[in-house]
Amino acid sequence: MEQKLLEKFKELFGDEGAISVYFAPGRVNLIGEHTDYNGGHVFPCALTIGTFMAVRKRADRKLNFYSMNFEQLGVIEDSLDNLVPKENGEWTNYPKGVIWAFEGRGMKLDAGLDIALYGNIPNGSGLSSSASLEVVTGYMLKDQFGFDVTNQDIALIGQYSENNFNGCNCGIMDQFASAMGKQDNAIFLDCNTLEYDYAPIVLEGAKIVVTNSLVKHSLVTSAYNDRRNESAQALADLQTVVGINTLGDLTEEEFDRFASAIKDETNRRRAKHAVYENQRTIKAVQALKENDLETFGKLMNASHVSLRDDYETSCEECDILAEEAWKIPGVIGSRITGGGFGGCTVSIVKDEAVEEFQKKLSAVYQEKVGKTPEFYVVSIGNGPSKLI
Ligand code: GLA
Repeated sequence: MEQKLLEKFKELFGDEGAISVYFAPGRVNLIGEHTDYNGGHVFPCALTIGTFMAVRKRADRKLNFYSMNFEQLGVIEDSLDNLVPKENGEWTNYPKGVIWAFEGRGMKLDAGLDIALYGNIPNGSGLSSSASLEVVTGYMLKDQFGFDVTNQDIALIGQYSENNFNGCNCGIMDQFASAMGKQDNAIFLDCNTLEYDYAPIVLEGAKIVVTNSLVKHSLVTSAYNDRRNESAQALADLQTVVGINTLGDLTEEEFDRFASAIKDETNRRRAKHAVYENQRTIKAVQALKENDLETFGKLMNASHVSLRDDYETSCEECDILAEEAWKIPGVIGSRITGGGFGGCTVSIVKDEAVEEFQKKLSAVYQEKVGKTPEFYVVSIGNGPSKLI
């Protein structure tokens, strides 16, 4: 893949000078959804698919961007002297936002860049193509300009730029999973303290299967930001009766005791999800440690129900995928993954059932939605790297 990108880069920008190619992965979240910005735990893992970036420093302050995924946009020209979101700048506003965030921390670029990109994460699938783009940009800047940042810093800078440059109030999960990924491990991250542990994912006799609903809803960013606001409102109500800093500070019992302080019924359901999902995530990781896949799967299913009914970030199509999956023998657990309102489900499926799972789900999805979903049997990969 990197060779193809390198060829394209040379064709567009010439082959002289030092051209480097970097990679950062997307992620799939196994459990712990919409808990990151609520002070809870998440349990994502980096994938082996992600974003590839070819780059070379320029002699001037120009920024040239090209993506093999959006060839129709051609080369988008910009400049280090214009670090504001560009109208119709499309995907280029992500790397630009990261450059802006580095500069805001005093890490100034003394040269412009030619950048060519290729991503093999299906667009809008909820597998963090944007976080992988932010992380690959941060990693590239560190390497090209010698900036003194850790991979964790790169994750935080990515989140900061997405919040403040791109206007999506996302939590830290996606950037963290991409920047800190470790092969064959999921990351058990406490989003309150950023303490984390790697948990080896050795699924004896089972595979992680991601199913793409191929649904992309509009207004996802505004609906996502609404959930954040509703959760914040619920927290403020709770803080009138109990001394907590985040929803992640509560157990289920404590939540049930204090829930009546949350005035709005919708906000109460949002908070219930955040509290219960956090506890489910802690329990799921414990179950995995004990090799109790069955409990892990049940918690995944409960996570889906809660996202469907209480947090309301699922959608009809993903409900069909999860609910139909539950009926298939050999499916250990299945739930919508990522920000929601479309995108993918993640399922744990016994080896011998993977084929049947795809066949049955395809048939029922075709019948009910009129589309054939895409399946990816995923491998867990590492964080960012320099390939060339
Ligand atoms: C998106 C956000 C993450 C997280 C998830 C939901 O992927 O970028 O920060 O909130 O949604 O768990």
